[in-house]
Amino acid sequence: MTSLDKLKNAWEGLAGRDALSAILTDDSKTGGKWNVAEFMATGDAEIETVMSHLASIGYPPDFGGAALDFGCGVGRLTQALAKRFASCVGVDISEQMIQQAESLNQYPHCCYVASSSSELPFDDGSFAFLYSNIVLQHVPRALAKNYLREFVRVLAPGGVLVFGVQDSFAAPDLSSRMVRVRHVLHLRSRIRVALKRDSGDMQMHLLPEAIVRRALAPAKVVDVRFTNTAARDFNGKLAYLDRPPASGYIGKQYCVVKDQ
Ligand SMILES: C[S@@+](CC[C@H](N)C(=O)[O-])C[C@H]1O[C@@H](n2cnc3c(N)ncnc32)[C@H](O)[C@@H]1O
Repeated sequence: MTSLDKLKNAWEGLAGRDALSAILTDDSKTGGKWNVAEFMATGDAEIETVMSHLASIGYPPDFGGAALDFGCGVGRLTQALAKRFASCVGVDISEQMIQQAESLNQYPHCCYVASSSSELPFDDGSFAFLYSNIVLQHVPRALAKNYLREFVRVLAPGGVLVFGVQDSFAAPDLSSRMVRVRHVLHLRSRIRVALKRDSGDMQMHLLPEAIVRRALAPAKVVDVRFTNTAARDFNGKLAYLDRPPASGYIGKQYCVVKDQ
């Protein structure tokens, strides 16, 4: 079984059990307790945060073009993009996620595609904007690097790409041997706590900045921000952080622009 087959099986299982809780792992909402409107509203708030940020750094996307949401799940973010762009596509490895996204679709200019390939099923230069959040962190590194190259390929000249990854795991400052032993023990227990997020078959993978930049070249990385996407209380409430968290996963959001 390839790593893509394993990913697809895992997400079909998660989507079949409780898709919304697999996407936003709020402990109080497991077992079908997410209110759908409340869940979808987190997507609208997240896209609003991203668009305000892009405007503030001088890279607003072309809303007259097409947007792509990679790893769209049930369309939490896709529907928010559809509200803002002339057309919109959500793509996901899980057919069950795509079926649920279609049943929640409010827009005739928005559509969903299931794809379990390492290549995106779109022509070169198709999209003015591409967004992906809380997806690549679940994808093995070799595959994730390939998707980054694919993101750049399907982006139109002048297009804007925004995606989140988990860059690394926060380690303590180690100075003396005794301190080092204590810190290693603490770090192990913090890793165990963080890994509780990896419920069931949900894998977590790191993608450090040097690797991200190499995979995206020659497209230009214009902005990198620390984010709260792996925090236990994330629940769709995207925030930009002034500094990396002191412990746990260090999330980064990249903004990339393709040359005209
Ligand atoms: C945590 S959910 C996030 C869904 C959506 N981005 C959101 O924030 O609401 C991760 C999604 O990524 C999808 N996914 C995982 N690996 C993928 C791949 N290789 N290609 C496309 N989608 C993938 C899963 O099926 C799942 O729907």
